[in-house]
Amino acid sequence: MEYALDTTLTVNGTVVTRRIPARQHLIDFLREELGLTGSHTGCEHGVCGTCTVRVDGRIVRGCLMLAVQADGRRVDTIEGLSDSGEIAELQEAFHRRNALQCGFCTPGMLVAAHDLVANQPGASRERIREHLSGNYCRCTGYQAIVDAIEDVLVARRQKT
Ligand code: FES
Ligand code: FES
Repeated sequence: MEYALDTTLTVNGTVVTRRIPARQHLIDFLREELGLTGSHTGCEHGVCGTCTVRVDGRIVRGCLMLAVQADGRRVDTIEGLSDSGEIAELQEAFHRRNALQCGFCTPGMLVAAHDLVANQPGASRERIREHLSGNYCRCTGYQAIVDAIEDVLVARRQKT
């Protein structure tokens, strides 16, 4: 019988308690148990970034963290960030700049981009590229993604 642990975490503001198999990854728990399928699974070994979510305010790879390790923590997914309006400027900029094609990488890109915009308001174009270096896109060639994020950073700097 698979070992499981009682686990309580807050997901997008809602407290969730489940008995979780000890070896289940956070991304699989979010997608399969909670139906939060906005974050995707790609490589499943920490390379592509499509499973990026936020845990206690920091971005993590959902495929590298066990769900039971989120016990007592706050997890935010693309659904939560979208519903709260936190990533509205980025979503609008991605749309305007055509920064997505198939959209598979987009949730992870937006979560990573939001982390940059929130924590490094003065980021250069080079710094944007560096920050996104762990998020792979098979479609866009990255130029439009970097353009969209730069637009948001510049617009915010102009407001201050
Ligand atoms: Fe997690 Fe690729 S699925 S980094
Ligand atoms: Fe298709 Fe990025 S838009 S993988």
